[in-house]
Amino acid sequence: MKTVIRQLTEAFGPSGYETEVTELIKTMVAKHADEVKTDVLGNLIAIKNGSQDGQSIMFAAHTDEIGVVVTHIDDQGFLRFGSVGGVGISTLVGNRVRFAGGAVGAIYQEKGSWKELTLDKLYVDIGAENKEEALKKVKVGEFGIFHREFEDLGDRLIAKSMDDRVGCAVLIEALKKIQNPKNTLYFVFTAQEEVGLRGARTAAYGLEPDLGIALDVTLTGDMPEARRMAVSLGKGAAIKVKDSSLITHPKVKDLLVTLAEENKIPYQMEVLEAGGTDAGAIHLTKAGVPSGAISIPTRYVHSPSEMVDMRDVEACVNLVVALAEKDLASV
Ligand code: CO
Ligand code: ZN
Repeated sequence: MKTVIRQLTEAFGPSGYETEVTELIKTMVAKHADEVKTDVLGNLIAIKNGSQDGQSIMFAAHTDEIGVVVTHIDDQGFLRFGSVGGVGISTLVGNRVRFAGGAVGAIYQEKGSWKELTLDKLYVDIGAENKEEALKKVKVGEFGIFHREFEDLGDRLIAKSMDDRVGCAVLIEALKKIQNPKNTLYFVFTAQEEVGLRGARTAAYGLEPDLGIALDVTLTGDMPEARRMAVSLGKGAAIKVKDSSLITHPKVKDLLVTLAEENKIPYQMEVLEAGGTDAGAIHLTKAGVPSGAISIPTRYVHSPSEMVDMRDVEACVNLVVALAEKDLASV
């Protein structure tokens, strides 16, 4: 499974340009699903038919990652950029970006901007000596991502875009493990989550699931001087209670807790004070869809070095499998 996480986190997929990621996932899920399709917004939908008619579950993990977009190129060949999604400004200086066309550059800051670092004080140096040379490598409007390699530290892993490629990896692994699905399962690898839960919104509208579950990263409170939060790395799958996009339907929350206990899957309860997931869009679809989220505890979210613990990742896989094999008609 670590290989899958490595391949997914090293792929290029800022919001709106997820094709490299979805093509990769397509090859991973093809032989485990009954049908695989893509839609207009770039969602990849893998369907596994259930043994009984009736209930359907939409699982969602987003394929896109935060990134940058070139807004201006000056005469010296330096690029100015805007953010794609919620980029952490304090993580940018000295970091590298890789653009859609392959150009790589270093991000740095104007003099005197330490105190109040804002995006317009930062630039990207792609090694061009002037504008003409820069234009041979990138264009205004070109998207880029933070350029970082995956690191295997044993139980723990560091990579860019764990948010949310680790969620995608959980769904891929679960799809491989599910033996006897009772419900129709839609594994949706959603586009454009980081810019406002956009892919999940249209996918849920089209699929009309009976239950929606997002798989996404959540924050932890276990680092030095961290915000108080009762989620830690290595303590299991996080069952969401609420975030700014969703209050988990009580029945869904209770079902996930019961499944975790019945199957001896380590879990923790997650109350996320700021942030949202695809479940925020799914639960407001049409007349409403009972929804919740299974979260992967992650340190340093929205930085190029997001850290997860494989034991939590495995707990999330097992919880997805347990839910997929549960007869929802009996709940
Ligand atoms: Co995110
Ligand atoms: Zn996410």
